[in-house]
Amino acid sequence: MILEASDVLRSGGLVAFPTETVYGLGADATNSTAVEKVFKAKGRPPDNPLIVHVGDINQLRAISKILTPNAMKLAEAFWPGPLTLVVEHRNLFPPIVTAHLPTVALRMPDHPVALALIKALGTGLVGPSANLSGRPSPTTARHVVDDLDGIVDVILDAGPTTIGVESTVVDVTTDSAVILRLGGLPREKIEAMVGHVRMASELKELQHSPGTRHRHYAPNARVELVPENDHSVFAAKLSTLVGARLRVGCMIHSESLFHVAREMDVEVVQISAEEYASKLFYMMRKFDADGVAVIMIEKIPEIGIGEAVMDRLRRAAER
Ligand code: TXA
Ligand code: MG
Repeated sequence: MILEASDVLRSGGLVAFPTETVYGLGADATNSTAVEKVFKAKGRPPDNPLIVHVGDINQLRAISKILTPNAMKLAEAFWPGPLTLVVEHRNLFPPIVTAHLPTVALRMPDHPVALALIKALGTGLVGPSANLSGRPSPTTARHVVDDLDGIVDVILDAGPTTIGVESTVVDVTTDSAVILRLGGLPREKIEAMVGHVRMASELKELQHSPGTRHRHYAPNARVELVPENDHSVFAAKLSTLVGARLRVGCMIHSESLFHVAREMDVEVVQISAEEYASKLFYMMRKFDADGVAVIMIEKIPEIGIGEAVMDRLRRAAER
C-alpha cells in the first residue's frame, strides 16, 4: 500500500496520509503541478504556505540555509513529533510550496505510516491538513472522504489520530524562538528547551503565520463557549436557545454542566478536559452531521495542550 501510494505521489497524484496530529493531504514537494493541485483541492489561498514533511533530521540540515541552535535543539528534542520548524531555506522546492517566502515549514511526523511514505517518496512530502480550507481538520479517514472525495487519489486509513490538533509551528530563524501557531506540542515543553518563547500574536511586527490570518476550524453550526463549571450561566444560555427551538449540542467536562444539559434534554457529550484535544474536531463534525444549530462548549484551563485547544475554540466561535 505504501509503495502504491508513493508511486501515485511520484506521478503527481494526491495521497491523504495519517499523522499523530491530523490527516494530511500529501503531494511531492518537488513537483509544482502536484503542489498546485493541493491548493486547488483545499480551496487554499496561494499566500498560505505549506508544511514539508521530512523523514529525519538530516533533511533539516540539507534544506536549511542557516541552522540556528534553536532549530537543532528543538528538532533533537521533539522530532518525530507535533512540532513544525520554520527555517530559512536553500531554494530546493518550487516557490509555490512556500508562497514565495524565504522560509519553509518543516516537520517530522510521529507516525509509522507517514514516515514510511516519506521514506518511499524520498524527496519531501507537502501536507496541509486534508480538509477543505476553513473546515475543522480531519482526525479520521472518513473526514477526508467527507471533504475531498473524488479529488484525492489514495487515502491511507490508519484509524483516528491520537493528538487531534495540528502541530505547534515555531519560527526558529533567529536566536529567540517565536510560536506562530499553538498546537500539539505544549509551549511549556518548548520553553523547557529554549527558554521563554514569544507568541507571534504578541509581536508588533506582522510576523504571524500566514495561515492564521484566514478563517479556520469552523463547523457549520454556531459555536458558543461557556465558562468552566458555571452552571447558572450555562443554564440561562441553554434555556434561551432551547426556548428559540434551536437544536443544541453540548461538549462539556464538568458534572455541574452535565446535569443542566441532561435536565434540558439536549444532545450532550461529557469528556474529560484532557480528552478535548483528541475529540474536538471529531465532535464539531459529528454535531454538524446531526444537524445541530448551536454547539455549546465548556472552556478548559489553558495549560499544556489546553492552550492550543482554547485557541482553536476561540477561532471556531468567531463569526
Ligand atoms: O499537524 C500538522 O501540522 C498538520 C499535519 C498534516 O502535519 N498539517 C497542517 O498543515 O496543519 P497546514 O497547512 O494546515 O498548516 C500549516 C501552518 C499554516 O498556518 C501555515 O501558514 C504555516 O504552517 N506555515 C507554513 N509555512 C510557513 C512559513 N514559511 N512561515 C510561516 N508559517 C508557515
Ligand atoms: Mg489546516
